[in-house]
Amino acid sequence: MSKELIRLANCTMAFDDEVVLDNINLYIKDKEFLTLLGPSGCGKTTTLRIIGGFQTPTSGDVFFDGVRINAVPPHKRAINTVFQKYALFPHLNVYENIAFGLRIPKVDGKGKKVKLPEEEIHQRVMEMLEVVNLRGFEKRHITQLSGGQQQRVAIARALVNKPKVLLLDEPLGALDLKLRKDMQNELKRIQKAMEITFIYVTHDQEEALAMSDTVVVMDAGKIQQIGTPEDIYNEPKNAFVADFIGESNIIDGIMRADGVVEIFNRKFQCLDGGFAKDEPVDVVIRPEDVDIVPEDQGQLKGTVTNVTFKGMQYDIIVDFYGFKWLIQTTDLSPVGSRIGIKIDPDGIHVMKKSQYSGMFGDYSSYSEEYEEISDASFDPEEDQEGGDEE
Ligand SMILES: Nc1ncnc2c1ncn2[C@@H]1O[C@H](COP(=O)(O)OP(=O)(O)OP(=O)(O)O)[C@@H](O)[C@H]1O
Ligand SMILES: [Mg+2]
Repeated sequence: MSKELIRLANCTMAFDDEVVLDNINLYIKDKEFLTLLGPSGCGKTTTLRIIGGFQTPTSGDVFFDGVRINAVPPHKRAINTVFQKYALFPHLNVYENIAFGLRIPKVDGKGKKVKLPEEEIHQRVMEMLEVVNLRGFEKRHITQLSGGQQQRVAIARALVNKPKVLLLDEPLGALDLKLRKDMQNELKRIQKAMEITFIYVTHDQEEALAMSDTVVVMDAGKIQQIGTPEDIYNEPKNAFVADFIGESNIIDGIMRADGVVEIFNRKFQCLDGGFAKDEPVDVVIRPEDVDIVPEDQGQLKGTVTNVTFKGMQYDIIVDFYGFKWLIQTTDLSPVGSRIGIKIDPDGIHVMKKSQYSGMFGDYSSYSEEYEEISDASFDPEEDQEGGDEE
């Protein structure tokens, strides 16, 4: 693939002694679609602002094409940004919104201010309208556009002066689900067509998996994992990543040997190795990787406690020895039935213990919520303690 374009080396950001980014190391390749993914407050926007030059890291270095750019101001970086609130000029039409950046005189090598000829501005604005599929909209006012159309104008405006990198901070956050999906495809297409680097921020894991070449999962100011969407989903590094990306049952295990992990005192074959003998580990089993079999043929046996019809499949909650798993299946196993399960070796993923061990991956609370919903006699008002009383 292409060469490295941007590098963050040991970047730490602190505000009033509170560390919000903790020693970030990350490189971004030319023409890559890289996504920063993580929960609110984990430091995504701060990372983006450091790359854009709106913030200087407390310590560490930022490189662009091998050159240290810590002190280079935003407008001198070959980087543009699309913010969530896209701040278009409501008094200007689509054409003028896109042309805006091109009309600002540039200072040439001799310190002289030069303006782009009107002809070139016209050509570049029309080219951008083509890219974002808004040909024919040039005279429209911003207030006469839908949310998705406004977003396209914002993207065209950010791309018109040909940056090498576009930073996008939750750009689809304001759009409804259907439009969001359309715009995801649209953005991907634009990025390919323009052959530029996109650094994208979202807290929506589905969006990150669908769009990115590389996903950077963050939590609490730290990078938890960097990888392709497939890596992140199939080989999560720790319980945080496993839980944040998709649904996961995360169970305590003991690694008895390479390729053998013990769960609930039963040995399972797996594909993982390289752990110490008898090392305690976290085991991830995705809900779609569990096969339901008759009870007497199961590697584990449990009782179905909840069934939810999801259209494509049933989500069932199964109690194994007091630990509740989520299993997705197309065969109905009614509540109360006893089932067995089988898991193929490639359906088991073993992870090192981490600070996140024990925090995620048990579906007991999920199950209680469903029990409450499905229990017609349950009165949430009655059960509330310390609630407002009239
Ligand atoms: N200028 C600032 N001064 C003080 N604290 C800040 C400043 N900017 C950000 N923070 C803090 O840094 C942390 C990370 O913020 P950041 O905006 O990077 O999070 P985020 O991942 O983008 O979250 P969200 O998904 O909610 O946008 C937060 O705890 C935030 O309160
Ligand atoms: Mg943010």
